[in-house]
Amino acid sequence: MKHSPDTIELLMNRRSLLAGKLIEPGPTEEELKKILVCATRVPDHKGICPWRIQVVDRANQDILHAKLPELHEGDPASLGKTNSKEAKTAPLLLIVSSYTASKKAPRCEQLLSGAAVCQNILIASSALGYRSQWLTEWFAYNDRVKEYLGIATIEDIIGFIYIGSETEAPKERPRPNVSDIVTRLQL
Ligand SMILES: Cc1cc2nc3c(=O)[nH]c(=O)nc-3n(C[C@H](O)[C@H](O)[C@H](O)COP(=O)(O)O)c2cc1C
Repeated sequence: MKHSPDTIELLMNRRSLLAGKLIEPGPTEEELKKILVCATRVPDHKGICPWRIQVVDRANQDILHAKLPELHEGDPASLGKTNSKEAKTAPLLLIVSSYTASKKAPRCEQLLSGAAVCQNILIASSALGYRSQWLTEWFAYNDRVKEYLGIATIEDIIGFIYIGSETEAPKERPRPNVSDIVTRLQL
């Protein structure tokens, strides 16, 4: 495997930018294809592919955005989870959902594979010069939203990933000291 110092540099510096601050342009169709290929190249125990990705352009985000208050009102289970009734919009939205019906691998592992899909999307987007943010909010956990999006209610929405260009470089946020979370196991 070839050394890739640029990848290490990217991983050491990548940061999300608030979805509401993402501006045009978003990825081109060619860049989107690359992001999607990177998204699907993730560890996946038993090769189940327990994830789906929906590509949502700005116009369709606006339609979803307009519909959310109604979907929210209809499901008291969602109330109180957050005050925010509104989705963000960005040049591009990828909705990553996880279908974990297979018994071939533990459900938890299938969900984790989906999380790797989301992380690869963030990394690939950064590598192409874009900013992004991974959100869930109440609408990831609302069955009426899932139905509206054509996602089965037994599936999990694991990420609304907003991608676009930066208005400003995000400020760094506190990171854990590696020494606080890592120990060397001595048996
Ligand atoms: C699964 C998951 C769900 C998240 N959902 C939300 C959310 O609903 N609202 C929010 O403000 N941040 C949410 N976040 C956090 C944002 O992604 C945040 O931008 C990120 O943690 C910033 O870290 P970074 O700069 O290292 O990317 C979520 C993160 C993860 C991993």
